[in-house]
Amino acid sequence: MSELLAVVLAAGEGKRMNSKKSKVLHTILGVPIIQYVCEAAIGASAAEIVAVVGHKGEQVKECLDGITCVWQHEQLGTGHAVMQAEDILKSKTGTVLILCGDTPAITQETLSQLVKVHNENKNAATILTAKFDDPTGYGRIIRNNDGGIKAIVEHKDASYEQLLCQEVNSGIFCFDIQKLLSALGKINNDNNQGEYYITDTIEILISQGDQVGGYMCADNRETMGINDRKQLSEAENMMKRRINERHMMNGVTIVDPENTYISRNVSIGKDSVIWPGCMISENCVLGEDCMIGPNTQISGSSIGERVNVKQSVVMDSDVSDDTTIGPFAYIRPGSKIGRHVKVGDFVEIKNATIGDKTSISHLTYVGDADVGRNVNLGCGVVFVNYDGHTKNRTVVEDNCFIGCNTNLVSPVTVKANAYTGAGSTITEDVPENGLGIARARQVNKEEWVVKKGKIRKEKP
Ligand code: UD1
Ligand code: CA
Repeated sequence: MSELLAVVLAAGEGKRMNSKKSKVLHTILGVPIIQYVCEAAIGASAAEIVAVVGHKGEQVKECLDGITCVWQHEQLGTGHAVMQAEDILKSKTGTVLILCGDTPAITQETLSQLVKVHNENKNAATILTAKFDDPTGYGRIIRNNDGGIKAIVEHKDASYEQLLCQEVNSGIFCFDIQKLLSALGKINNDNNQGEYYITDTIEILISQGDQVGGYMCADNRETMGINDRKQLSEAENMMKRRINERHMMNGVTIVDPENTYISRNVSIGKDSVIWPGCMISENCVLGEDCMIGPNTQISGSSIGERVNVKQSVVMDSDVSDDTTIGPFAYIRPGSKIGRHVKVGDFVEIKNATIGDKTSISHLTYVGDADVGRNVNLGCGVVFVNYDGHTKNRTVVEDNCFIGCNTNLVSPVTVKANAYTGAGSTITEDVPENGLGIARARQVNKEEWVVKKGKIRKEKP
């Protein structure tokens, strides 16, 4: 059997989005909507995907890694869009799956089923249909008295009677490649939008005596097309719910699923609890028994087991088992935080490794550093990693105690077991087991307040 090919239409402007960018690049849970469509096609075993790009096409191409793109320079309709893939299609035989770049909720299971029905019935075309209580905007499936499909009529071209029909075209089809090409050659733009519609090929195939079937999608929400921001938010809610439910079935407690935004490809271990207001982006891995949130953002990171992240941001970093982060911590890219570490309030860590059992309890900036095990960084420590020209690294070895308000001016090393005095600005290495103090010695001026008449009076 020949390989399955998929064509994804993504050249339209998406006027109703009222946006500066292409409709298909708007995101749902952080992922451009067209990527969901392409992945569903790959999941349904499409061996090759061809995307038709046009409006803001360069941007669309950029987000489609490994996908062949063809240009539709003028957007003259969905039929015209498919014609742009003609050069690729004409050398092939077998089945092509036609998809719209604006239906992100479609699943690989439904697409596989559509392809199966199409091939088993040896249809020339099979339409994925759906039923909506309110089918406004969709093309309607017009059937004969015997129930067979007769045509698809666009909402804008439909008669009053046709508008009452609740079965709609999802915009997703399977076609026999050669039959599709011959029918495309016969469509015209004689309709209310002056466009070449892919949907007109259906009537043409039927009039030639070719067999056209429909496969109704069990869950109409999968076929929801995104044409405006309202539909974008509806689709986001739906897909969010779908993902959250999967995690809950897997043993994760999500306290408020309506206010929890977990992207696809996230794994969360059993008995972890996600509090309201969390956003967990693609490819994050969280272990078991974690407490995440409330109001926490985690992206590109791996989080171990029994980790507690409260009201914090963690980006592109690794956090190991039994560590607590926050409230109000900011873990920036390239950080590796060990086990049993405490990162407290208003701590920022960037591109740094933090050893096991180290404490960074409050108001500290750790940038470009390697901090060892069992270190205590006092309140207000600053790793001075930037001299205005270059960034340098600081090393704090195991078991050190860095006094409050110490500035560690990099490059500098505090050797194992050493201390620094509170308020020191450390510019030279501190030796192992030593104490580094770098501040003016205190002077007390006796009776100074009285002599200067500076006794403070309480407010009335
Ligand atoms: C289309 C269908 C309609 C169906 C609905 C499902 C047609 C004529 N209509 O309508 O029957 O119910 O989808 O969501 O096919 N595109 C191009 N080039 C163009 C025009 C569109 O690439 O010249 C792309 C768009 O980027 C979009 C897709 O095709 O991804 C669908 O276009 P859109 O304008 O959204 O079609 P609908 O009016 O929703
Ligand atoms: Ca649409």
